[in-house]
Amino acid sequence: MSEIREFIRRLPKAELHLHLEGAILPATLVELSTRHDAVPLTLADAEALYRFTDFTGFLMAFKAVTQRLITPEDYELASWRMMQRLAEQGVVHAEVYISVGVIYHWRDHQPESFDPIFAALERARLRGERELGLTLYWIFDAVRHFSVEEGAQVFRKAAQMRAAHPSIIGIGLGGDERRTGSEPYRALYAEAREAGLRLTNHAGETTGPEAIWEALTIGTERIGHAVSAVQDEILLRELQTHGIALELNPTSNVRTGVCDRFATHPLRAYFDRGLLVTLNSDDPAFFGSDVENEYVLAHSEQGFTREELRRLAANSIQASFLPDSAKAAWLARVEATV
Ligand code: ADE
Ligand code: ZN
Repeated sequence: MSEIREFIRRLPKAELHLHLEGAILPATLVELSTRHDAVPLTLADAEALYRFTDFTGFLMAFKAVTQRLITPEDYELASWRMMQRLAEQGVVHAEVYISVGVIYHWRDHQPESFDPIFAALERARLRGERELGLTLYWIFDAVRHFSVEEGAQVFRKAAQMRAAHPSIIGIGLGGDERRTGSEPYRALYAEAREAGLRLTNHAGETTGPEAIWEALTIGTERIGHAVSAVQDEILLRELQTHGIALELNPTSNVRTGVCDRFATHPLRAYFDRGLLVTLNSDDPAFFGSDVENEYVLAHSEQGFTREELRRLAANSIQASFLPDSAKAAWLARVEATV
């Protein structure tokens, strides 16, 4: 293994933009299929589900994989495998999107149907914490292009469960920004904030900077992707002044066709301006990268030095929703890494 990869692995890192369903590798899907299907998927069948050529195709592939998660035990296995991969990369804390909106939309709209799935997610989380030393928070993700009523169901479920389950840290909006922005969700974001949930939002991935402004005006604390912020000087200043954290996912953006190459991704421009940028993998099983590899590519494609990689790791801790005491402890470990 290269020296730089070893250094990256040793750096304590938080992954802040990771979809559980997007972390399921084809081999795990085969394993799930052997539990459920009379004629199980072959590896080639499973791999075919992950093929796409553009953003719309990616969303369809994501849906196809998510629909193969059937029982609570499926979710438990997927979560455990994801945590194993994270621990191998030196990730010490992750904030993971669960597509609760997809579960309700394609199955039934009974709020309680998610309860046994969540119990399974928690079993995996606690086991990972015990056996791998990795902490995890959950972010309930709604699909913006379904309906606001469906979004309400997801966010209210998070709000109701939060008191008993503090691992539910926040909410998010994924899906197709070209079809629905953030404005329709203004009242729901205010309600979620009242309930103590932290507010994240995919914005400026397939849309222009106006989508990021819109996300900010509804109270979004952390922006996923934010690729198009680079087009708007005033927005860049706003992001910097207010220390808004950006969850960047460069390989995801290259693979869905919203960015040419890793080398030209605005990661470098944002970092040099002092924005609070973090590096993440989004859907590692779909994009053929993971967070460790994103750091390696930041080094090889954009010339990030060791000290700059250390800054990215520190940013990931800083931008997390961990309590200040945990942040301080991890930041000291980041600074001490040689
Ligand atoms: N769901 C999973 N990954 C996503 C992405 N990159 N954009 C929008 N929705 C998603
Ligand atoms: Zn995402």
